[in-house]
Order: sequence, then C-alpha cells, then structure tokens
Amino acid sequence: MASGSRKLKIGIIGFGPFAQFLAKTMIKQGHILTATSRSDHSQLCSQLNITFFRDIEAFLDAGNDIILICTSILSFSQVLRSIPFDHLKKPTLIAEVLSVKEYPRDLLLQVLPLEIDILCAHPMFGPGSGKDGWKGLTFVFDKVRITNEDTCSCFLHIFENEGCRMVEMSCEEHDKQAARSQFITHTVGRVLSEMEIQSTSLDTKGFQTLVNLKENTMKDSFDLYCGLFVHNRFAKQELKNLELALETVRQKLHHKSSDTL
Ligand SMILES: NC(=O)c1ccc[n+]([C@@H]2O[C@H](COP(=O)([O-])OP(=O)(O)OC[C@H]3O[C@@H](n4cnc5c(N)ncnc54)[C@H](OP(=O)(O)O)[C@@H]3O)[C@@H](O)[C@H]2O)c1
Repeated sequence: MASGSRKLKIGIIGFGPFAQFLAKTMIKQGHILTATSRSDHSQLCSQLNITFFRDIEAFLDAGNDIILICTSILSFSQVLRSIPFDHLKKPTLIAEVLSVKEYPRDLLLQVLPLEIDILCAHPMFGPGSGKDGWKGLTFVFDKVRITNEDTCSCFLHIFENEGCRMVEMSCEEHDKQAARSQFITHTVGRVLSEMEIQSTSLDTKGFQTLVNLKENTMKDSFDLYCGLFVHNRFAKQELKNLELALETVRQKLHHKSSDTL
C-alpha cells in the first residue's frame, strides 16, 4: 500500500468535544479508533464504532499505531505522567493536538522513552469553524522526534486528504503567532461576553461579527482559554499589549474631545 494511504489504529486519550470532532472524520476515512478518558464516554463511543476503555493499561495493550492526546492543556501534565508507557506493545507515535505547543513538546521530551516518536500538532479549527469540512483550514505541525516517517505521514494524510493547509512550523514560532492571533481573539470574545453584548434591532455587519465572535468563543471551555494563557509564554505580553492599546485609544479620545471643547 502506498505511504500515506494505510489505515491506522489510533488510540485517543481525552475524549472531549475536540476529540469527538476529530474522531468522526478519522472514522469516515476508515481508520480504527479506540479511546480512553477521565469520564465515561462509552455510550457515545459505541454509537461511533469506537472501542472505549476505562482501563488505561487495556487501552495501551490494544496495539495502536498512534496515540493521540486530546486532553485539556491544564490537565496534560497530570494525564501524561499517569500513562504507563511501558505497556506499549510496539514502537508507537505519540501525537498531541493541544492549542499551545512548546509546553507539551517539553513535557513529552522529558517523559517519553527515546524510542517513542513525537508529533506536536495544532489543527487551528474546531467543531464550529470545521463543521462544513476542513478544506483550506490550517493544520500546524512540528515533527519533534520522528524515526518512523511512514506512520507520521499516514497521520498527516488524514488532514491533507480533507484539504487542510499544512504548515510545518516550530513549536516556538507557533506559540508566538498564536499568542498574537488566537489568544487575542479568545480574549476579545471573553471581554465581549463579560459586557453581555447581544444583537440589537439595528446591528451593523461589524457588530454582528462581534456577536458571532462572542458566541463562538464561549463555546470553548474556560479551561481551554486559561491554558492558552498559562502555558504560552508569549501570551502575558500580548495581554499587556491589549490593555495598553485600549488605554492609548481612550487617551486619544480624551485628547480629541478636550481639543474640540
Ligand atoms: N476545541 C477546539 O476547537 C480545539 C481546537 C484545537 C485544539 N484543541 C485542543 O484540544 C484539546 C481538547 O479540547 P476540548 O475542546 O475538547 O476541551 P478542553 O476543555 O480543552 O479539554 C477537554 C478534555 O480534557 C479532559 N480533561 C479535562 N480535565 C481533566 C483532568 N483533570 N484529568 C483528565 N482529563 C481531563 C476531558 O476529559 P473528559 O471528557 O473525560 O472529562 C476532555 O477529554 C485541548 O488541549 C485544546 O487546546 C481544541
């Protein structure tokens, strides 16, 4: 079989909203999925034809080609350290899709034995933005430690096949750019939510965009947003930049209004 078209056995750790969203496309492509999670997702898994394990050791015994970690950013360290990797039956690729990248990379390099491959990835879309397909949506990845190119390229093909824009980038560069873009987007969305903005009878297109931003942002868990801040070393400065920019705009308004009095 040509490289990239092999059907994979993928074991997912952390079967929350994002994992469920990814799993549907993986199953559609014919891959065989198993899952384990803190909560019991066995009912949903059986509907999706996914074998759900409550027991992590039984999950690791299942002989997956890839283990895909989809837990929250905040629980990643605890989840990773609780996995008995010595139960793996064969060389396995560990991939993760957290929305920050340096933090999981560093922990994976610390915790995983040298023979285990590591792929750090971030699909820059989710159940909302990807509901009508993944065509043109960005998939960022960093091949942190890859010896088995075939398994890694089969995994990347899942996203290539759906038409994603594949961007190979260092974890550091990802975090720098994501702090300026994704973290700011989520922060503005949460500020608008604190202001309780709602559609009015005379919405402009611009205002509708803000209402949509608020609604989309609030669909993600607070844990996810908090993780974007706590575990991206560039986010703190971007938050300061946003506060400073708001203050600058406020001062410009005050100067102008005192000029015109
Ligand atoms: N949502 C998106 O659009 C999106 C896009 C790209 C990447 N991501 C990344 O994908 C990951 C999952 O995101 P998400 O949207 O599903 O929501 P999330 O709130 O970031 O994570 C939910 C997942 O984390 C698990 N979890 C939370 N706290 C835990 C704990 N203390 N111990 C063990 N497991 C715990 C949950 O397990 P249970 O369900 O079993 O309770 C669930 O599987 C995150 O790292 C996020 O940054 C999300």
